Amino acid sequence: MGARIDEIADGIYRISTFVSVGPGLAFNQFLIDGEEPLLFHTGFRHMFPEISAAVRTVIPLEKLRWIGFSHLEADECGAMNHFLAAAPEAQVVHGQIGTLTSISDLADRPPRTLSDGEVLPIGSRRRVRLIATPHVPHSWDAVMLYEEATRTLFASDLFTAFGDGPVSSDGDIIAPAIAAENAFPSAAITPLAAPTLRRLGGLGARTMALMHAPAYNGDVASACEALALDYEARLASASAV
Ligand SMILES: [Fe+2]
Ligand SMILES: [Fe+2]
Repeated sequence: MGARIDEIADGIYRISTFVSVGPGLAFNQFLIDGEEPLLFHTGFRHMFPEISAAVRTVIPLEKLRWIGFSHLEADECGAMNHFLAAAPEAQVVHGQIGTLTSISDLADRPPRTLSDGEVLPIGSRRRVRLIATPHVPHSWDAVMLYEEATRTLFASDLFTAFGDGPVSSDGDIIAPAIAAENAFPSAAITPLAAPTLRRLGGLGARTMALMHAPAYNGDVASACEALALDYEARLASASAV
């Protein structure tokens, strides 16, 4: 099974593998090309051959400089050490909780730690900002990256949708996300969830690179607000029981 690769913003590539188990789900990784290429999500360890082959269609794998992901799960970072082995200059970049609790031990080379809001220049025309999003979408180590030149937010499992959709869309991402959450509750809907979504919505993103859905190039702020309202309603109804 091969992975398809498509450019979703200037120099930003979406690598996607559709897994047709149950309702079917896409697993996406994102490559930011440039002087210091960054891969956001490594994919599962068993998918390394296909995902690395897709990366190689854009850059020599050895040129990969940064490996980022949101949180410790196999689809996010299962192939982390495979990529570290294949790319001698590559380094994992993550937030303070992630590196402190897990990555410093799990990764075969020491990671680079960024604090919330810290910017990492990845070449002369690219900068990624780390946003600490504890428990959003889930896991206390969760972070997201925001690439400022293309205004792309790498939003991990937010807005997960079942099925094999298009590469990019500006259509409704709220109803599919609510349906997926109802079927397989995966969001950690703590009191932090809605404020975190509103913070993400306020970044000014033009594209949201979603792990399990088409890349979204509609109104990101409105989508985040709608999901925040849904989470608040779920939290209120759970509290009222
Ligand atoms: Fe996840
Ligand atoms: Fe995921």
